[in-house]
Amino acid sequence: MGFVDLLNLFKLPVYALPAVPFALTCVASVALFPLSAHAQGQPTPDATNMDSFVSSLLGKMTLEEKIGQLNLLATGFDVTGPAPSKNVEESVRKGMAGGVFNLYTPSATRKLQDLAITHTRLHIPLLFGYDVIHGHKTTFPIPLGLSCAWNPDLIEKCARIAAIEASADGVNWPFSPMVDIARDPRWGRIAEGAGEDPYLGSLIAKAMVRGYQGDDLARPDSILACVKHFALYGAVEAGRDYNPAEMSRITMYQFYFPPYKAAVEAGAATVMASFNEVDSVPATGNHWLLTDVLRNQWGFHGFVVSDYTAINEMTQHGLGPAERCAEIALKAGLDMDMVSEAYIKYLKKLVSEKKIGEDLIDTACRRVLEAKFKLGLFADPYRGCAPERAEREILTPLNRTFAREAAQRSFVLLKNEQNALPLKRSGAIALIGPLAESRRDLLGSWSAAGNWKLAVNVLDALKESAGPNVKILPARGANLSDDAELLETLNASGAAIVRDPRPPAELIDEAVAVAGKADFVVAVMGESFAMSGEAASRSEIGLPESQLALLKALEKTGKPIVLVLMNGRPMTLGWESAHCAAILETWFGGLEAGHAIADVLFGDYNPSGRLTTTFPRDVGQIPLYYDHKSTGRPYLGNARVKYVSRYLDIANTPLYPFGFGLSYTSFAYSPVKLSHKTLNAAETLTASVEVSNTGQREGEETAQLYITDPVASVTRSVEDLRGFQKITLKPGEKREVKFQITSEDLKFYNSDLVYDWEPGEFIIRIGPDSSQLNSATVRWNKSGAR
Ligand code: BGC
Repeated sequence: MGFVDLLNLFKLPVYALPAVPFALTCVASVALFPLSAHAQGQPTPDATNMDSFVSSLLGKMTLEEKIGQLNLLATGFDVTGPAPSKNVEESVRKGMAGGVFNLYTPSATRKLQDLAITHTRLHIPLLFGYDVIHGHKTTFPIPLGLSCAWNPDLIEKCARIAAIEASADGVNWPFSPMVDIARDPRWGRIAEGAGEDPYLGSLIAKAMVRGYQGDDLARPDSILACVKHFALYGAVEAGRDYNPAEMSRITMYQFYFPPYKAAVEAGAATVMASFNEVDSVPATGNHWLLTDVLRNQWGFHGFVVSDYTAINEMTQHGLGPAERCAEIALKAGLDMDMVSEAYIKYLKKLVSEKKIGEDLIDTACRRVLEAKFKLGLFADPYRGCAPERAEREILTPLNRTFAREAAQRSFVLLKNEQNALPLKRSGAIALIGPLAESRRDLLGSWSAAGNWKLAVNVLDALKESAGPNVKILPARGANLSDDAELLETLNASGAAIVRDPRPPAELIDEAVAVAGKADFVVAVMGESFAMSGEAASRSEIGLPESQLALLKALEKTGKPIVLVLMNGRPMTLGWESAHCAAILETWFGGLEAGHAIADVLFGDYNPSGRLTTTFPRDVGQIPLYYDHKSTGRPYLGNARVKYVSRYLDIANTPLYPFGFGLSYTSFAYSPVKLSHKTLNAAETLTASVEVSNTGQREGEETAQLYITDPVASVTRSVEDLRGFQKITLKPGEKREVKFQITSEDLKFYNSDLVYDWEPGEFIIRIGPDSSQLNSATVRWNKSGAR
């Protein structure tokens, strides 16, 4: 009798099959074919019978087994929180884990999956989570950079590639997309999101969910999206990580909730609660947030996981001992406990003391089992994951080519005086700065399984691309920072910053001498990757002093300076913007960033990125964002007028506004034309402009549509992004860009949190960024509603 026949005979689940080699090599004893309650009479997991399959399974589970499914343990190759979990294998063997994270590769995940399947009574497979934030092994630009492509299709494709690679490596649950709106660049995690705008943020959130989950979660290359961090994590006070977030409900609904909601509507299977409090209750234990809003208002059906040790952290927030926090969290609607092990420790006791009903545990467990079912884990717990597949599907040349394109599209040209860029392929370039030869930094703060040793740094990429007529003269010029304490702190968390021991003045002198021999200077500067991301808030967001001093010395040489920035947040660049000939913002561009930077510097790619976060002039202006409200005393430009809303020492305006970005060509916009002067509710308005390429090269423009609602029952933003279109124009070419606008685009949350629009005048604005807009006014009546 063959092995498969044996399985059939005992009606074992199909997923017992791949476990066999392991089981056979282990001990013939065990559980090789435990005629478990689950195996006997359990419906087969075909896509149509999730309810009966999960109900039948739940019916066989003990209370401990159900609680086990709610426990998520940290183990493996990365440590992304205070400490990893202990005794993970033993917990898995005992059925005390529903999933593990920070572990990948077919062999490592298979080893644990084998344990779960062969050693536990009901053979329930594990989930494998991992922070696949901007690619798995093919690392794409950090999310903030990617968002600057204003291109949901491109971002969806990055997420799809990440899903293919991660699933081939045994991961079935990326902790992504991170969709927190952020208006404060001091917060290091601004790097992980899509910027400050809810409209664009929502499009990107949906694109990422589609990319991860594909059209069918059961496909072996689909993975469960995890929308995080719900909610308001991007609004932590003073930009300090983990701090409370304090805001009105109307602001939550209008500005901060939309991307989470959009991701839920796109079918995201899981949500992660945020560390911060919301409305004076930590999100982890916030019933209003996790149940009333997420499930009852938005119809979310998946499961909610806590963030790393967040249930236990509720004690520090002031909610009492861990046992009480576990009770609050479960009752709030928090299904899975990441690392706290509070559910494992206390839920059984809480049930026996009748503080919680077992039905709450059933509900949470059902949600976790349903996610596993949808993933197809009950049919194949390995999801086709094998070393050959990993070899074939990870880091393919095509994926790397796409990463290069994504990086090119994420860069934003902030300044380009007298066409300093693109560089000519002749003469001598002084390549200066502490990041010019860095490979590690290119990958960014959360590069998951990315291997920086595969990256090509800017120096090598420029040499590769320059051709025989260009001399590249490198000099470091400065250390990343002269703050020894900062460097030590960063290195303690893995930044691997190498310090040149020479005195700062000696480094600068050397760089100035090198610049003297060159036609122009390319200065590659910014932050270490470890200066943004989690637990990396900064109170000053300019270039570190060592680098600014170098830049000032270089400027005295009179050579034009092209500043290439790498950083994970908007920076204050007052001096730089006044004195550098060109500034190219490249964020942390991922595995192919070096090549992409060379492509843009030499003009093989014409930059097209647009900012998705405002660049302030100074930290004192923060929070500074484009969709702010007016005051009753707005500043209208006359500095002698007192009693208006302004600073005495700095302009109100940003240095670089939301939506801004230059190209190697230039574009002009005609006035806005509207199809109607007055509309009824059901009618569609067409707003159009003619965009012309007025420069010498082909280029891509992002025409942006904003709407202002000047009179409403609640105060509205000065303008809200409501659409954009990307068009490519040849030199001299013109194109009409049309936006179709309906009353849906006018909706907002009123004081009763009702989402609707109010009739009246609206200003329709179109232009290249949020601060340069042509406008026309229309009247929209409520009569004739659909
Ligand atoms: C972060 C999450 C992350 C989790 C697991 C936490 O510290 O806030 O974004 O997914 O760790 O690594």
